[in-house]
Amino acid sequence: MKNVILTAIVISTLLVACKSSKVVVPAVPLDCSSKTITYSGDIKAIMENNCTRCHNTNNKAGYNFLTLESIKKAAMSGQLLGTIKRTKGFAKMPAFSKKLDQATIDKIECWITNGMKE
Ligand code: HEC
Repeated sequence: MKNVILTAIVISTLLVACKSSKVVVPAVPLDCSSKTITYSGDIKAIMENNCTRCHNTNNKAGYNFLTLESIKKAAMSGQLLGTIKRTKGFAKMPAFSKKLDQATIDKIECWITNGMKE
């Protein structure tokens, strides 16, 4: 009987503790393991539809997204995901347009995670 009461006290204390402290649920990490995303098959078209009207041979902001090299450079610096996810501290891209849809952002993220295959 004593144990039951003790257990009840412990459990309710834990519950209160959990409720009152701000529990930050970590975002579920993106699972890219089953995704085969390539530059030629996926990324090239995304960039051409959303980015290259500004970032082309004029090298706007130092990027010509008509080239794989430039996309890789933006990816490695963290700017590619930072800008399209609209993370604080980055310019919001694509500029003067709405945010890319989540599926497209995930695709780009998985492409980077999986080694930026051609
Ligand atoms: C309407 C023109 C336009 C479009 C479309 C556009 N950008 Fe930009 N981008 C700019 C300009 C202008 C800058 C210069 C930075 C600024 O806005 O302050 C820039 C800067 C950047 C930078 C440099 C980061 C920084 O903070 O300066 C990155 C990376 C970038 N853009 C990625 C993209 C990507 C990826 C897309 C497509 C999803 C895209 N941009 C679409 C105009 C554009």
